Amino acid sequence: MIQNKQVTIIDHPVVARDITILRDKNTRTDEFRMALGRIAIILAYFALRDLPLRQTAIETPITKTTGFEIDTDIVVIPILRAGLSLVDAITDFVPDAKVGHLGMYRDETTHKPVDYYSNLPPGLDTAMTLVVDPMLATGGSADDAITFLKKQGAKNIRFISLISAPEGLERISIKYPDVTIITAAVDEKLNDDAFIVPGLGDAGDRYFGTS
Ligand code: PRP
Repeated sequence: MIQNKQVTIIDHPVVARDITILRDKNTRTDEFRMALGRIAIILAYFALRDLPLRQTAIETPITKTTGFEIDTDIVVIPILRAGLSLVDAITDFVPDAKVGHLGMYRDETTHKPVDYYSNLPPGLDTAMTLVVDPMLATGGSADDAITFLKKQGAKNIRFISLISAPEGLERISIKYPDVTIITAAVDEKLNDDAFIVPGLGDAGDRYFGTS
């Protein structure tokens, strides 16, 4: 794992193998979903590794002891549509997490995000908020999402992506130094169509089989 204060880049052999499966244009939809699911589990593990705990008294069949409960509400917010691909792995870890939705697509000509939907649970001001989207390209969608969530009161925000471009990472790090980013790969650059290079193409289309 490569880590600075704000950005965690997962360094794990299974992730390296699975990112390769995702990048390969010949990977079938079922293989793509399985590989993405495996990476999502590892992303969730690292994104949640510093969850606050509170002590709780319990009894085992043998004796009284002290255990732990998670001491914060967790809200997972996928940026539709591709962000949905990461939700199941995170809610497997924390089944009581609430899930909000932000609908955004990137205009193919301007490359700017267009908002079309939002549905958020209450309590963002005290929750740990995990914004999830497999691709951080220009960072426009993440930027809009974070700005919107902060206006709604969110304070503790983490952004989880599979593949990030340096441009998007820089944009979010500079504008939101309080938002931590957990990603499985940082690629070389964006091309003229604002696609990540080498990337994996359109994550939503490949995950949902719509390409
Ligand atoms: C993709 C991706 C991000 C966004 C990243 O979404 O899932 O949301 O683009 O680009 P950015 O960092 O430059 O904003 P897309 O528009 O393909 O929509 P989809 O999720 O519905 O497939």
